[in-house]
Amino acid sequence: MTRVVRDRAEMRRYVHMLRKNRFTIGFVPTMGSLHEGHRSLMRRSFRDNDRTVVSIYVNPLQFGPSEDFERYPRDLEKDVAVCRAEQADIVFAPPVAQMNPPGRTSTISVGGVSEDYEGAVRPGHFAGVATIVATLFNIVQPDRAYFGQKDYQQTVVVRRMVQDLAFPVDVVVAPIVRDPDGLALSSRNVYLTDDDRKEALRLPTALVRAEQKVLEGETDCRRLRKLMRAAMRSRRKDVSVDYADVVHPDTLVPLGVVEGHAVLIAVLRVGRTRLIDNRVVAPPGTAAWEG
Ligand code: PAJ
Repeated sequence: MTRVVRDRAEMRRYVHMLRKNRFTIGFVPTMGSLHEGHRSLMRRSFRDNDRTVVSIYVNPLQFGPSEDFERYPRDLEKDVAVCRAEQADIVFAPPVAQMNPPGRTSTISVGGVSEDYEGAVRPGHFAGVATIVATLFNIVQPDRAYFGQKDYQQTVVVRRMVQDLAFPVDVVVAPIVRDPDGLALSSRNVYLTDDDRKEALRLPTALVRAEQKVLEGETDCRRLRKLMRAAMRSRRKDVSVDYADVVHPDTLVPLGVVEGHAVLIAVLRVGRTRLIDNRVVAPPGTAAWEG
């Protein structure tokens, strides 16, 4: 039975009851418009925990003034049906007035790892994410929280915050779920026209090509960056690369040479839509990546 909770005090009471019964709580924070990527996180949580809480909340704090907060796709009924199909125990879907009441002045900003890449293109974005994730952690009090590798920098920022502020939560990062053509699933893919989608495929293709080079022995990150950019070049004027880089998996510092694990991160703009993707790579013979 999936229960929908809109009120944060009620959520607290429910969590209190679960904890009293010594149930472990798995938590999947989302902004709704749920797809297979979100579902994979729910399944993982279902497997690892006694109870699973999914939050659905389009967080105004993490959208910039010219971003798509207003037009972000919302369909609570459909999302609840998805959570039900995945046997989630609770859907926490609070109204904005409860999570972001007028007068809120406390925010959490994570230094360092949130400054470049998404942080540079979207000022204030990660403070918005960290603040809402911390608030949700305090309400839901999960044992484990599930995030997708799709938003790689977000996972690094959340891990940093959990470590720095001693949240008693295990952060679990799950692999990227893709459509058969290679495009990473995203709630924002609904914005793409057929032609946009063809352009969008340049992004995963560029990452796969760069990975292939690494597997063939290429270690020079300058050449890998160039290769990714070249693979994403388009004749369409409204297709452009925000960034394409090779970074350290924990610090996101740009690398000169691929020695151990490295992350290829890139963002391609197609029209008004920003597509984000990444791939963890390593030279041949490197031990498997532990996340
Ligand atoms: P949202 O974009 O809804 O994503 C919720 C979670 O699903 C994130 O951890 C994201 O990385 C993961 N996810 C999205 N697409 C995925 C895919 N193709 N494969 C695997 N996982 C995928 O990320 C957010 O919401 C918000 O920033 C949030 C953490 C909820 C804070 O507001």
